[in-house]
Parts: sequence; C-alpha cells; structure tokens
Amino acid sequence: MNADELKRQAAEAALEYLPDSGVLGIGTGSTVNHFIDLLADVKGRYEGAVSSSEASTERLKKIGMPVFDLNSVGDLEIYVDGADESNHYLHLIKGGGGALTREKIIAAASKKFVCIADESKLVDILGAFPLPVEVIPMARSYVARQLVKLGGTPVWRENFITDNGNIILDVHNMEIAEPVKLETEINQIAGVVTVGIFGYRPADVLILGTESGPRTIVP
Ligand code: A5P
Repeated sequence: MNADELKRQAAEAALEYLPDSGVLGIGTGSTVNHFIDLLADVKGRYEGAVSSSEASTERLKKIGMPVFDLNSVGDLEIYVDGADESNHYLHLIKGGGGALTREKIIAAASKKFVCIADESKLVDILGAFPLPVEVIPMARSYVARQLVKLGGTPVWRENFITDNGNIILDVHNMEIAEPVKLETEINQIAGVVTVGIFGYRPADVLILGTESGPRTIVP
C-alpha cells in the first residue's frame, strides 16, 4: 500500500471515535482530507464542524458541512487531525501545512484528540521532520537567532503566509528528547506565535495506517 492508502485507512478507522452528534473539530492536511471525504456519508448527524484552516473549511463546505467559529461553540468532544511526527507518548510535531496555531487552539479546546497518520510518522525521538514555528513577520531574524542558540538551523519558509498573516521558520537539526521543555523554551521567545510541538497537549489516541491494518496507540 502506498502512503496515501495508509492515510485513508487511518481516516476510516477514526470514524469509530466519532460521537453521535454535536460539533466536530477538524484539522488540516492530506490525511484529514480523506477524513473529510468520509464524513460526507455521516454529516447529517452533526450540527457542523470547527476547522483549523481555510483549506479544510473549504473542503468541509463542499461536502455540505456547516463550519462554525470556535468562539460560538465552546469545548468540543473530539478533534481529528494528522501529524508530521509522533513519538510513543503521542507528543507530536505539527505544522507541515502551516496550520499549527489554529490546530493547537482547537486541540486545547477539545476533550479528545484523535491523531491519524500513516505508520511512517511514528518515531522514537521527534525532530527529523523540521520543526515549524509560526512567527510575527517583524521578528523573523531575531527569532531565527534565538533558535540557533537552542541548537537548531531555522529556514524561512519563503512565499508562505499563514492563515493568521504570519511567517513560518522550519527548524532543522533538532533532536527533541524533551518535547514539553523545548515547547516552553521556544514559546518564550518574543515574536513566536506558536511552536509546532504538541507536548502540553499531546494526542489522546494515535491511529496509524499500516500494511497489516490500522494500529491504535493509546499511551
Ligand atoms: C498541518 O499544519 C499539519 O499539522 C498537518 O496536520 C500535518 O502536516 C500532517 O499532514 P499530512 O496529513 O498531509 O501528512
């Protein structure tokens, strides 16, 4: 099976975690796109969704799912999203698609975070995937210098602006042995909006598409 088929398999398995009704939290990326496509068959059960990006909002609207502002719905029962990497504690790196800030907000406001991915995303130590950091544009150089001091090699994601109007630095060469500690340190740098480490709010369930069928990890 190719990676896309494994992503679809994980998305299908996540349907079992859906509540009977209410408002769903929906993330961003190619794995979530499969999930949104599958939601088309069951969308009538739900009032609607809160989405972590303009891209997912557009896709949700295409299947006829109303999309709400998070401020109008309160806490969510469930958030379904992908990841760029997960360790065995379900600490994640996210933000490959640049939607990390809204993803982190919706994950924080959700009772259960179900992460869906193909099996290549499971790692022992986070950091082989360049760590995305959303930064206020005027702070780009300053934040980059601080990230170098933390041992990373930041690279400006050129020609990319987030849905919030900010820029992304992708930090290479980070071996993230203590995700919560590094999340705290990077979040303290003036000008950082969000770092793509999900350590304070890890996933609750990780569903991996594998050659032998979906594998579920609950730490
Ligand atoms: C979006 O900003 C990311 O956090 C995605 O959730 C992550 O990049 C996973 O994307 P794929 O499902 O496309 O691998």
